[in-house]
Formats: sequence, structure tokens, C-alpha cells
Amino acid sequence: VPRVTDPARILVVGSGGREHALAWRLARDAEVDEVVVAPGNDGIGRSFRRLAVAEDDADGLVAACRDQAIGLVVIGPEAPLAAGLADRLGAAGILVYGPSAAAARIESSKWFAKELMREAGVPSARAHLFEAFEPARDALRACAPPWVLKADGLAAGKGVLVTADRDQAETFLTGCFSGTRFGASGRRVLIEEHLEGEEASLMAVCDGERFALLPPARDYKRAADGDRGSNTGGMGAHAPFSRVNERHEREVGLRVVAPVLAAFAARGTPYRGTLYAGLMLTDQGPRVIEFNCRFGDPESQVVLPQVEGSLFALLASAAAGELAEDAIHRGDGASVTVALVDEGYPDRLRGDGVIEGLDALIRDESGVTLFCAGIADQNGRWTVRGGRAAYVTARAATLAEARALVYAAIAGLGGAGWRYRRDIAGAAAGAPLAHGPLRGAA
Ligand code: AMP
Ligand code: GLY
Repeated sequence: VPRVTDPARILVVGSGGREHALAWRLARDAEVDEVVVAPGNDGIGRSFRRLAVAEDDADGLVAACRDQAIGLVVIGPEAPLAAGLADRLGAAGILVYGPSAAAARIESSKWFAKELMREAGVPSARAHLFEAFEPARDALRACAPPWVLKADGLAAGKGVLVTADRDQAETFLTGCFSGTRFGASGRRVLIEEHLEGEEASLMAVCDGERFALLPPARDYKRAADGDRGSNTGGMGAHAPFSRVNERHEREVGLRVVAPVLAAFAARGTPYRGTLYAGLMLTDQGPRVIEFNCRFGDPESQVVLPQVEGSLFALLASAAAGELAEDAIHRGDGASVTVALVDEGYPDRLRGDGVIEGLDALIRDESGVTLFCAGIADQNGRWTVRGGRAAYVTARAATLAEARALVYAAIAGLGGAGWRYRRDIAGAAAGAPLAHGPLRGAA
């Protein structure tokens, strides 16, 4: 494990629940003296020192790292990675965990990811690229629904439409090619083979050559109970996910992660950072439905609490290109996280939500952990800012116990203008839907 600064001070870049979970987990490692977060949020600020530097301010972050004697930077979100923040910090001689812009293209261009997968023989859905409306519309006519349409570039988790409704599909295409829907990100569209099966998330910590798989997770992407409603950034998650067995993991290691790392190494742009594979567990085995170049959100909120040993040693060694696989092992039990979101998330944000009772959770007094995202402290009131406000998280001996802890804590909250899904981990834990108000108001 590389020696970092003395004292060992880590900077986590980002401001969401994932970054809160990273900071919280890294702060538990014995080698770590301090974790600071830039820019963080008001909830994170209750436990960690914040630096007032935006995640897209590369100059500001380089200066902050020098100023604060930062030994390791962990970059959370995809946008700064795609913009080359890891390259900038690395060039300044700062140890950084997160891929270069060249490697981050695996997330920032879905077509690039497809071509790389084809080249490397990674099992995935067949896809075609379209750069104009008419040929894309003709392709819809030529293949049977449901159709899977994806904007090529970054779209904050909203660039995918799966539908059997032709009008909806054509409206999506029109929006993409006119640039009104996702700007330049949407002017190239993939139409993809529809895969059937159960979805799972598997993350690998990579040093350019070798990798360590973290426990598999199940993410709940749809807005409403029963996996209905719009796609969101994620309404909750649990880990581990027992549907992903050892054979699946071996196969993903062998047929997905290793070939991707080899392909990047061959291009002269080694992949150092988290490779997140969104998988469909089909009858023919796992198929990749997407790659992310970073830790999942909200998967991190449940996967990181399950990691024992030193996450710091794992990430610092990966960043240095000399992965210490044995630095971590998987803990027992299970973790569950449930997102508290703006009542209108993701389609019509209200922006006026207030959540009462969060302070006790922030102080960790109730056996649960609160990971904060879009919340602000307005004169002592926690207000909802942006779609996902915070994640109520628990680890326990069983999934059912973790789930019960989370929903009991949420039942103690009040306020208005926010909501949550009541069925996170329900089927997996063998429990009926939690009873509780549809809205956040108690
Ligand atoms: P993505 O942003 O690529 O994860 O896609 C969002 C969601 O669309 C996924 O979580 C899946 O539920 C669904 N999806 C994406 N690609 C496919 C596919 N090829 N077949 C079926 N469903 C898909
Ligand atoms: N939870 C999916 C993602 O992080 O993109």
C-alpha cells in the first residue's frame, strides 16, 4: 500500500449520498486521519469538514489538495471524471482514485462502450447507432417491441427509454435528434436488443490490470412501488444480492472485467478506478446493460458498509497501480438503503419538501446511518433540494432485519413534500410491503 501524507488526509469529491457513504466508510479505516469532502452538502458537513470547491473546478481542486496536504483523492461522480479531473490531479502529482477521461468514456459514450465490448467479446445486447431521425424510426418499424432507446452521452441516468409504445419511442427520438432532450448528448441514439431477466449491479475496484469485486447489489431504479413509474437515479438498494451467485461472479470477472481492463491497457489508457457493471441475469448468463466509470449511487450506500478490512488500502493501492486485493473482505449480514426524495421526483420536482426528525438519524442514535444528498439546512429545517434528499441505511444480521430498521426509522420522520418507496428489499427479504404513509408526512 502506498504511503500517503502524514497525517493521512483523504479528499472525497462530490456532493451526494455516494460521497457521504465513501467518506463515512473511509473514516472508519485505522490508517485514515481525516476525510474532507468537496463540495459535500449540509448533511455531510455535520460529520466532515467541507471544502468550498466545486467538483468541476479542477484548478481549485488541485490547489486545495496542495493546500490541505491531501494524500489521496477519491472522485465520486461521472461528470468530473469524463471532464478529465483524474488526469489533472494525476499530472499535478496527486494520488487519485478514479479513471482518466479516456477510460471514463466507457460511461460517457454508450456507443464507445458497445464497440469496446464487441472488440473484447463482452456479452451484451446487440445495438445499432443512429445519427438521424428517419433511419432510427425505420429501425423501430423493422424490429418488434419492446424497444430499448439510449442517448449516447451522459444524461444523468435519464437517457434510456424502454417502451412498447411507438408514439412514445418516436417522441423520444424526435427529442434526441432535435437536441431539446439531452442537448449534444442525445444527437446520437442507440437502439438495442431487449434483454429479459433480473438486474444486478457489480462493482470492481481496478488498478489498470487487476481487480477486486465488491459484493453484488440490487438497485431499485423505478420511481414507484412494484417497479412501476419512471426510471430514476435509484430509489433504494440492498447488498449482498443473493441472485448473483459465485458462478455469475466468476463469469463477470472472466468475461467482463478482465477483457475490459485488457482492452483499455492495449489502448494505452489503463483503467484505474471503479468499473461498475449493470447486469441483466438472463437465461444465457449475465449480460452487460451498462457500464459506469464510478461507484454506483445508491449501491455504494449498501455495498461499502458490507466491506470489511481497509477500503483506504484498497483504493490507494489501486490508484497507485498495485492493487492490494487482500486489503478487504466481505462482511456478514446485509445492508438496506431507502432514498427519501422530493415528492415529485423524478418528473415534476416540487422543491419545497421539509423532512422533520433527521437530526437524530444524523447523530446515528437509532441504529441506522443517514447518507445525505440533496438536502439543505435552512435555519434548522432540513429542506429537500434536488431529487434525492437522503438515504436511510442499516446493516444487520439479515436483510429482513436491516429492512425493518430502515423502515422503523423512516416511520419516525415527519414533514411534507417528500416520499419514499415502501418495497425496497421486500421481496428479497421475504417480507410484505411495509405499511406507512404514501407521503413522507407522518
Ligand atoms: P441504463 O441507464 O443503461 O442502466 O438503463 C436504464 C434501465 O433500462 C436499466 O436499468 C434497465 O432496466 C433498462 N434497460 C437498459 N438496457 C436494456 C436492455 N438492453 N434490455 C432491457 N432493459 C434494458
Ligand atoms: N444506481 C445506478 C447508478 O449509479 O448509475
